[in-house]
Amino acid sequence: MPTIVDRRSTRVSGGSKVADPIASEIEPTPQKRKLRSSSSSTTEDSRITSDLTPSPLKSSPSKWKSPRRCVNDSPKSTPNANRGAKAVNLSKSPVKRRLSESFLEKPMWNPRDMEQLNGVKEALHVSRAPSNLVCREVENNRILEFCKQAVEQEKAGSLYICGCPGTGKSLSMEKVNKVLVNWAEESGFQAPDTLSLNCSSLSNTSDVFGKILDKITLRRKINTCTSPLQYLQKMFSEKQQSAVTKMLLIVADELDYLITKDRAVLHELFMLTTLPFSRFILIGIANAIDLADKFLPKLQSLNCKPAVVTFRAYSKDQIISILQQRLKAFPYTIFQPQALELCARKVASASGDMRKALWICRSAIEMLESDIRDSINSLDLPSLHGGVSDQQRDCACDKSLIHESNVVRVDHVAIALSKAYRSPVVDTIQSLPQHQQIILCSAVKLFRGKKKDATIGELNISYLDICKSTSIPPAGIMELSNMCRVLGDQGILKLGKAREEKLSRVTLKVDEADITFALQGIRFFRNCLQQS
Ligand SMILES: Nc1ncnc2c1ncn2[C@@H]1O[C@H](COP(=O)(O)OP(=O)(O)OP(=O)(O)O)[C@@H](O)[C@H]1O
Ligand SMILES: [Mg+2]
Repeated sequence: MPTIVDRRSTRVSGGSKVADPIASEIEPTPQKRKLRSSSSSTTEDSRITSDLTPSPLKSSPSKWKSPRRCVNDSPKSTPNANRGAKAVNLSKSPVKRRLSESFLEKPMWNPRDMEQLNGVKEALHVSRAPSNLVCREVENNRILEFCKQAVEQEKAGSLYICGCPGTGKSLSMEKVNKVLVNWAEESGFQAPDTLSLNCSSLSNTSDVFGKILDKITLRRKINTCTSPLQYLQKMFSEKQQSAVTKMLLIVADELDYLITKDRAVLHELFMLTTLPFSRFILIGIANAIDLADKFLPKLQSLNCKPAVVTFRAYSKDQIISILQQRLKAFPYTIFQPQALELCARKVASASGDMRKALWICRSAIEMLESDIRDSINSLDLPSLHGGVSDQQRDCACDKSLIHESNVVRVDHVAIALSKAYRSPVVDTIQSLPQHQQIILCSAVKLFRGKKKDATIGELNISYLDICKSTSIPPAGIMELSNMCRVLGDQGILKLGKAREEKLSRVTLKVDEADITFALQGIRFFRNCLQQS
């Protein structure tokens, strides 16, 4: 019996999943402390969960809301469509229009060329800081203006930057710092010293004061009876002592790690900027948005409330712009516009986390690589038996060079998305036996028009059609009906009662977009579902 096999499926026998080596790359910081995960991470997770994870299969009486609709929403997303204007839906959005135009202007890339492939993957790597930071101009200007003012007036102050993970806070601060130093040099101001601290790396929260002290003075000068905090407090309370010190820009990233039960360290740190002769420009960064609510009122009562700059989650258009910016240097087209758009839309609706968007793009490229390997292997097989000559294979490869199969398509991104945001519905469908998957595929085809239910007899006709097209021996109608009951028990189908089994009415209990999404990693189903 022919089987429908897809090498890329993450399913392995026994239902366990193959560990995904790239997945670890996207986790912001796995061991972040509770506050972080119970605040913004939880917010993010719950947003992802509510967006992508419907209630457990059996508990939901109504139809599951599909998180995958976007896969189908993608404008006329025919993954194998020929490249050209007809494949691109020119939308009113300027970002999307630019996306479509660049697709039409540039030649295709050649993912078989390792140099091109590695170059593109590198450009999409999170660690690759872009030379020009787009979509954060407003936030960066506010931070820069705050710092410039402090330097110009030699006035201490504090600023708190908050926003969800992957929204460019740390990256922006790095850029602002560089611009600030250049600006100070050009405008004749003394550039501040900079201390960039990642608070998560401190073994003790109060070590932060020791680090600051190390930066401005030699610790051995200090009387051992005095703590670094006391020394700093004394130093910036007396004119003579502080006058010799340069301004110090302290960038305290992952500030939430400094939170202790009484928040004393955090308060003392911010209060250092209010001492009469303080020379500190303190910038705290955290992704716990509610941290501001928790500690700002107290700081206000202590008269050291920082200015706040919030980094909002990236929108779909911003994600597209950032991805385009990273790919701008390449003189060829790498992604189908709809594929980039799908990635951006999904990530924006889940978390707006740029790390995730980058990971999904890289993962989609790996899907394309895997497709290419598959096609080369399938050419190799017959040649072993003398079926295809080297010349024929080369010719086929050459032809495919100019074929659409060279770009990263919607289906590649869809698979990458499913790895990044797995939902139990999709997992369940992907781990069903082959014939039950065919039944679901038949149901999707049957319910594509206005039809919302069908009899087992009608479903059987659609099922037989699909089996015939793949030469898979079909199950009998009684067996089909039993399989529908199993799918009913799993909450995927609803099966009514009737005098005759074949007259029982069947309805889908999951969104058809979820089925399409779950099955499109398998080429056979993908083709089948694309046919009208
Ligand atoms: N505007 C942007 N342009 C290009 N790349 C970006 C942009 N914003 C974020 N990125 C990418 O996303 C990665 C994560 O950004 P960043 O480290 O600044 O996030 P963060 O807001 O500090 O997240 P966290 O709260 O988890 O620390 C960056 O390393 C960069 O690769
Ligand atoms: Mg950060």
